[in-house]
Amino acid sequence: MASNYPVDMSVNPEVKAFFDPETWTISYVVKDPASNACAVVDSVMDIDYAAGRISYKSADEIIAYIEEQGLKLEWLIETHVHADHLSAAPYIQDKLGGKIGIGENITVVQDVFGKVFNEGTEFQRDGSQFDRLFKDGDTYQVGEMTCFAMHTPGHTPACMTHTMGNATFTGDTLFMPDGGSARADFPGGDAGILFDSIQKLLALPDDMRLFMCHDYGPNGRDIAWETTVGDEKAHNIHVGGGKTKADFVKFREERDAQLAMPRLIIPSLQVNMRAGELPPADKDGKTFLKVPVNGL
Ligand SMILES: [Fe+2]
Repeated sequence: MASNYPVDMSVNPEVKAFFDPETWTISYVVKDPASNACAVVDSVMDIDYAAGRISYKSADEIIAYIEEQGLKLEWLIETHVHADHLSAAPYIQDKLGGKIGIGENITVVQDVFGKVFNEGTEFQRDGSQFDRLFKDGDTYQVGEMTCFAMHTPGHTPACMTHTMGNATFTGDTLFMPDGGSARADFPGGDAGILFDSIQKLLALPDDMRLFMCHDYGPNGRDIAWETTVGDEKAHNIHVGGGKTKADFVKFREERDAQLAMPRLIIPSLQVNMRAGELPPADKDGKTFLKVPVNGL
C-alpha cells in the first residue's frame, strides 16, 4: 500500500533518546542532518505525586544535551495528551524557545476533561494554549528537514504520529513488536479506530525507523524503543502477521477492561490539556491539582 504523505527516506536525522524509568516514557531530540536545528518529542516533567512536588531533572537533561550539542530548538512536539506523565514542553520552551505543537483534536480532549475537572470558563477549549494545531498531512520544517503529522486516533482522539525524514514517532499508536499496542479505553478512545490508524502507520516504507513513546520491557527484556515498519508488520503481537480488525478489537476491549488507571492520570490530564502548564494559581499564589471523586 502506498502512502499519500510526503515521505523522504533520504533524510536521516540523528535521534537521541531519553528514557524516564518513573513513567516508562521515551523522549527524543531529533536533529536535522543538514543544519543544527532540532525538535523535542514528548518531554517529561517529574512529579512526586504523593508529595505534590514537581521537578525538572528529566527536562534539564534534555536541555543540557541540546546546549552541549549547540542545537537550535525549533519544535516541541506532543504526540497526544498523555495520561501517564506530565509534559515539560513549556519549561523547555522557556529556556530554549521553539513552538509547541499537538493534534487539532486537542479541542475534543479539552472539552471532555474540562468537564471532568469542572474547569471554569477561563479554561479555553480551543487549543489556544498550543502554538500549532496539526491537521492530518500538515507539514512543518525542522531546519532543512520537512516533517509531517499523520492523524492516528484510537488511543485518544488527538493522537498524531510525526515523521521526520526516515524517523517516525508513533506516540502511543504502536508499541514495540513484543509490546503490541496501547489501550483504547480512555474517553474518546476506540479499538477499531486504533486498528485503522495502525494500518496507516504500517503503510509507510518497510525500512522507516519507528520510535516508541513507551516501553515496559515485556517478558524481562531490556527497555527498547526503536524498530521498523517491516518488523512491526511481521511480528507485532497485536496487529502483525495479518491479524484481522475483528480479532484486534475483541482482544483490545477484553484486555482494556482489566487495566487499572495509570498512576499519574489525574495530574497528567490537568497539566497536559494546558500544553504542560500547571493550572492557574489562586489569589494567594498557590497552585493546586484537583482529584475528581468518582469522576473518571
Ligand atoms: Fe498515551
